[in-house]
Amino acid sequence: MTKDDDPKAPEHSSKSEEERKRGLRRREFVKLVGGTGVAATAQVLAGHKLASAATTATIPEEVAAGSAGEVIGPGPVAMTLRINGEPKKLTIEPRVTLLDALRNHLDLTGAKKVCDRGTCGACTVVVNNKPVYSCSVLAIELADRTGKPGADIRTIEGLALEGKLHAVSAAFVENDAQQCGFCTPGFVMSCKAYLDTHHNPTIEEVKHALGGNLCRCGTYMGVRNAVVQAAMSTKGGRA
Ligand code: FES
Ligand code: FES
Repeated sequence: MTKDDDPKAPEHSSKSEEERKRGLRRREFVKLVGGTGVAATAQVLAGHKLASAATTATIPEEVAAGSAGEVIGPGPVAMTLRINGEPKKLTIEPRVTLLDALRNHLDLTGAKKVCDRGTCGACTVVVNNKPVYSCSVLAIELADRTGKPGADIRTIEGLALEGKLHAVSAAFVENDAQQCGFCTPGFVMSCKAYLDTHHNPTIEEVKHALGGNLCRCGTYMGVRNAVVQAAMSTKGGRA
């Protein structure tokens, strides 16, 4: 008696047989992707060769990032980040975000981890003069690498050089633009980057420009007033 004739045979058995013939089943596919995911992400983002599950076991734990065609990760790699004008050497896995590199490896805790998924702006730093969510970019993408200079990364710690508050920070204090203060470093960095290219903003323009930063305490009016005041004190902006 064949299984088609046997009433006790499971109904799906012939279906499974068909699936096997068609190729990878869903469970097998998920297992395969799960095993290669970390290495694949690191390689795609860093622009190097893909390290498959079969090869990761033979990759040296620590290699310098950047030699052309060299496989990097998933173990720690040496890199240099240019932060507030200074080179900072560190050895971290390619999957580490800029935010985690700053907070956990360089003791720069000004940028805050709140949502960790690019929605709140608390982790904002300035990269090559543009505000960037540091939770949403990998440190290795901005590092000095062979043939490619690293990015210019500015954090809130770099604003108060020689103990003097930056005009934006001072305006935040004067306009009572913070309560718990958790969002404040991100707001200050966004404001600074904005004012570097917009010298004469109106309140409405500031409101639009800061749409990527959230404040749970609701200090928005104070923040907008602070930005306009900072513009006036630095570049002659208008209210
Ligand atoms: S922590 Fe990065 S955007 Fe919220
Ligand atoms: S001051 Fe508390 S979240 Fe903005």
